This record gives sequence, C-alpha cells and structure tokens, in this order.
Amino acid sequence: MQKLIVQGGTRLQGKVNISGSKNSSLPILAAALLTKEECIIHHVPDLSDTNYMLQILRELGAEVERASGTMHIKAEKIISDAPYDLVRKMRASICVMGPLTGRLRKATVSMPGGCVIGDRPVDLHLKGLEYLGATVNMDGGNLHIEAKKPLKGCTMNLQGKFGSTVLGTDNVMMAAVLTKGTTIIEGAAAEPEVEDLAHFLIKMGAKIEGAGTTRIVIEGVKELHGAQHTVIPDRIEAGTFLVAGAICGDGVTVKRVIPAHLKNVTDILTASGYGITTTKDSITITSCATPKGFHLTTRPYPAFPTDMQAQFCALACTIPGLSSIKETIFPQRFMHVSELKRMGANIDLEGDTARITGVETLSGAPVMASDLRASAALVLAALHAKGSTEVHRLYHIDRGYEHLDEKLAGLGAVMERISA
Ligand code: EPU
Repeated sequence: MQKLIVQGGTRLQGKVNISGSKNSSLPILAAALLTKEECIIHHVPDLSDTNYMLQILRELGAEVERASGTMHIKAEKIISDAPYDLVRKMRASICVMGPLTGRLRKATVSMPGGCVIGDRPVDLHLKGLEYLGATVNMDGGNLHIEAKKPLKGCTMNLQGKFGSTVLGTDNVMMAAVLTKGTTIIEGAAAEPEVEDLAHFLIKMGAKIEGAGTTRIVIEGVKELHGAQHTVIPDRIEAGTFLVAGAICGDGVTVKRVIPAHLKNVTDILTASGYGITTTKDSITITSCATPKGFHLTTRPYPAFPTDMQAQFCALACTIPGLSSIKETIFPQRFMHVSELKRMGANIDLEGDTARITGVETLSGAPVMASDLRASAALVLAALHAKGSTEVHRLYHIDRGYEHLDEKLAGLGAVMERISA
C-alpha cells in the first residue's frame, strides 16, 4: 500500500492538461459490448477503474488492447455473466448490465453493495430494464436479468427520491438502443457523461435524441456497428485542480477542458472572489487576497456536482468566515470531515449539511483517504497546511485521478509517493 507525503505551503503556478473523463469512459467502454465490430476509444484515462473495466470486458469475451490512452475493443462473441471477483471491485461495473441485456437479452451481474459514500441502490436501473420487458431475479448475491421475448420500447420515468440516476440512465439507454420501438426516458440524468455516451452510441448507429436533457428519446435499431470516439475531458479532475489553484495558487490553468461543463464550479469560485478567465478550452484561476465564504447545495447537473463537494469542503476550511455545504445526492458523503478536523478544520456536521468556519492555518497530520473525492480533498487541504501531511490509502486516488501527484508536482507542489 502506498501513501503520499505532501509538504504544505508551496504556491502552485502553471498549466495542467486534463485527462479524459473517468465517468464517461466506464459506460462508453461497456457500450462497445453492443456490437460485434471493433470500437476504438481515445482519451481513456489510465486509472485502476478503467483497468478493471478492461478486465471485465475481457472476461465477457471481448478482445481488448490498450495503447496509452486508446482502447481497441472487439466484442465478437460475448457471454452474459460478469465475473463477481472483478465486479465487486468497482461499483460502476454495473453498467455492463444494460449492453448485455440489449444485445443478449440476458445478464448476470453481482449486486453492488453499499459503499463508503452511502447506500447505493440499483432499483432504478432494474425498474428501467423491467419497463422494457426484462425480468429480474436475485440469487446468491447476483442479479439475473432475462427477457424471454424481445424487449419493447416504452415510456418510463427514472427519477428517484434523490433525483436522476447517471448510470441507471446509461444502462437503460444502452439496452434501449437495440430495443424495438420508441423508448422515452423521463427524469433522465442530464450529466455531460450521459450525453457523451449518447454521442458514442449515435456514432455506432443508434438513434437518440435529447441526451444532455432530462428527456431522452431512443428509437431502437436492429444492430449497431463499430465506431471511434474521443472521451470528453474530466470535469471533476479539472474542478479539483481549480480548487487547488484557489487554495494555494498564483495562477493555475486547466487545459483541454469544456468550460461550460464547469460553470457550476466556476460560478461559486467567482462569487467567492477568485479570478476566473476562460478560453474555448481552458480555465485559469487567480488568487484572491480576501475570499468570501460560499453556500452551496449539490444537485444533479447542471447544478453543483456531488463529486466536487469534498474538494469545496477543503477550500471552505481555508476561507475566513462561514461557508455551508448541503449534500442532497449522497447525504452521508462526508467521510472527509473527520479527517479534515484532524488537520485543524472547524466543521460542524449536522445531517446532510456541513457548516465550515475557515481557520487561519491547517496543520499537517497523518490522514486516511476513504473514497476517491474525499482523498482529493485531503490532498488539497494538505497543500495549504503547515508542515507535512501523510495521506494513507492512496489507492482511492488512483481509482479516479490520472497521475494526480505528478500533475500537482508539475505545478510546483512538493510531494512524494512512498510504500507504506
Ligand atoms: N439511486 C437510487 N436508485 C438507483 C440508482 C441511484 O436511489 O437505482 C440514488 C443514489 O443512491 C443517489 C442518487 O440516486 O442518491 C444518484 O446516484 P446515481 O445513480 O446518479 O450515481 P451513479 O450513477 O452510481 C455516478 C458517478 C458518481 C457520481 C454520481 C452522481 C460514475 C461511474 N459514477 O454514480 O461518481 O457521484 O453519478 O453524480 O459515473 C465519483 O466519480 O467519485 C463518483 C462517485
């Protein structure tokens, strides 16, 4: 196991290239199961999560080759059982369920458990597949999805009590593209990653309208063909570097981004007093001598993303005065709070809301990463803290940030990865 030792107090400056989106790559790689022909996906980040997905595709029978950021996938003959040993390592592997059901009319995938960011049900994924005519059974921890007759398009609403579901929308869309008739998904997730998946499916021959909105209309086609696609930039990685620039930067530019995808993040940074300059594909953040506290609520896109909540919590610890963060998507996603407190943060957590009073200095301490975004928040706090911070359980960061430490070091951060 590795840990990261971060020396706090250095100022960051310069430009950083943003990688392809993790949360786009995973369903897009799974979508290659929908055709026998070769698909070529560019800009896939080198992460443990994308590597798990690659292994799952191989276990399902696909030929997969990876040459740096480009993956070639040919799923000529595939089976319907996703292997438990791999699936349990990554919750997002649930997104093979839609393409397997669409192409083979059956899928066996192990039921994902809860995780550290809360209870993570898949009832809406299953409801959507049932609407299309599949039956779902649970046995021995596995979900068996089967359709004795061809699936049939219909109108459904996938809105749940916490809002829309990203991977649930992806799964139903991937099953529906090969389903006879018209499928209308109301209450669909409008996240850019869902839209990116739809763009890839359309290149494969699917007929989809409305992706990127809460109403997606899919006209089923008989078969899909191979296609090439470049994954969109990772808006959450970009947002994380912008927060690094706010916390301890003297001009940090994130390059190769789609600024519109980050408006929800840059709006809060601007309101807090940081300077934001945008070009067609870059965003620069400049420091602010007297930043103001902020109040934000996480909600589905285009509102503020839950995947940036922990990083903004770290930022709030460094801004004088009161900030507040309400988490409505994963109300228990506050594992970073107790670790930030160990670094001297002043956070009052009540239910789904954290009230944060900025402190003059955070102090370096040994801290434990608990999930991907919480880990990023600890690294951000460590950059600001006095002294050195040891961030343990680094594998959480490697799930979702491509070379985070090297990229931060490129901006001037002082950190070292060592075996714990
Ligand atoms: N939900 C249900 N029933 C379902 C599915 C979801 O009630 O069947 C609830 C969830 O419990 C949650 C809300 O709906 O309260 C939203 O969950 P969603 O299904 O959208 O989450 P997801 O698709 O499993 C993706 C990202 C997450 C991100 C969420 C929300 C991927 C691989 N994962 O998860 O990313 O937080 O959407 O935007 O795309 C991360 O990258 O760190 C991460 C956790």
